[in-house]
Amino acid sequence: MNSFFLTKNNQLHAEAVPMSDIAAQFDTPCYVYSRAALTDGFLQFTQALQGRDHLICFAVKSNSNLAILNVFARLGAGFDIVSGGELQRVLAAGGDAGKVVFSGVGKTEAEMRLALDAGILCFNVESAAELVRLNDVAADMGKIAPISLRVNPDVDAKTHPYISTGLKQNKFGVAYTEAVALYRQAASLPNLHITGMDCHIGSQLTEISPFIAAIEKILVLVDELAAEGITLEHLDLGGGLGICYSDETPPAIADYIAAILGALQGRTQKIILEPGRVLVGNAGVLLTRVEYVKPGEEKHFAIVDAAMNDLMRPALYDAYHYITAVEQEAHPTQIYEIVGPICETGDFIGHARELAIAPQSLLAVHSAGAYGMSMSSNYNTRPRAAEVMVDGETVQLVREREMVSQLWAGERIMVV
Ligand code: LLP
Repeated sequence: MNSFFLTKNNQLHAEAVPMSDIAAQFDTPCYVYSRAALTDGFLQFTQALQGRDHLICFAVKSNSNLAILNVFARLGAGFDIVSGGELQRVLAAGGDAGKVVFSGVGKTEAEMRLALDAGILCFNVESAAELVRLNDVAADMGKIAPISLRVNPDVDAKTHPYISTGLKQNKFGVAYTEAVALYRQAASLPNLHITGMDCHIGSQLTEISPFIAAIEKILVLVDELAAEGITLEHLDLGGGLGICYSDETPPAIADYIAAILGALQGRTQKIILEPGRVLVGNAGVLLTRVEYVKPGEEKHFAIVDAAMNDLMRPALYDAYHYITAVEQEAHPTQIYEIVGPICETGDFIGHARELAIAPQSLLAVHSAGAYGMSMSSNYNTRPRAAEVMVDGETVQLVREREMVSQLWAGERIMVV
């Protein structure tokens, strides 16, 4: 799907490495990432934002492997986190706490303490109750918490309902109509320091217009606040830029940024963005092997060694992932249901795919770098897949394949 995963000499490569070499060395199922793809995406953002005060906070939830976080940290990225666990991952990966923004509707007191101790850049507060709790926790610690309010602009992101977040009926953010009053309340709380405004309207957006509509709405609030003497240092515009899985035509990063800069003309605040999918989605492939080919009365099944526990998106959102044979082999072409071994009819990776494959063939499930491994589970007591990162001609293991014994390591049998 991009220039980092290309077919050369009849075989799919990750950068310069043949996929079959990776399968031979690390076994399957295995997530394969391209460092060059990660770097390329990040640099597209920084180049488009050159000359403008900005911070790109990678959305950790999209892929939280330490090696991925470390690649972005080395490029100067900040991070958008939604849990104390993600904060600890960022720190373990060498990320800078001072470049972390903390989103999420349910921050616990323990998570607030962790983040205040680490000295994060900003809490993106999502309710009045959270404002009060954060002020109390900060007071107890003798600290001042930097905050933004996450404003729900009531804009239709035109994406899958499960990943649309900026509508009135969604649980995210504070109501647009209540935002100014809540800023006033925040200004009155002694252990909070207002630094910005935040807004994230959804994920896998393939049009620019909802982003711009959201910006226009929040700028009205920014001006209302300024008139009351509440000035903001930054505007956090969230993530959400989509990628091409099949035939979508999302805007290029440069065009998305140009549109944002256009909408922000005359504004001096630092721009924070929280991209996840667009940075990692097409930088990763899930490599899997065909175990069985099972001809059926109505459909032919290719049963592969990856399943919904490895890549949940098809089962959860009916999401489409492009699937190709790693090597062009002389097998009859058939239309297959690509399914995993899990005991659920929803355990499919792709429907009706035309492929020339046989048992032992390797398949590449494309665009799997975002919300693949990070949403994986151990359902059916399946150890999580290995993850590797390719860098030119080299491949490094960045997460060992899980062992079954690790899966029950914390479990106990009743004493009597
Ligand atoms: N910021 C906030 C506050 C978010 O909630 C999200 C994603 C992002 C940034 C990053 O959005 P991105 O740039 O990746 O679109 N599991 C779903 C996607 C869930 C997205 C949740 N929030 C999927 O597999 O499609």
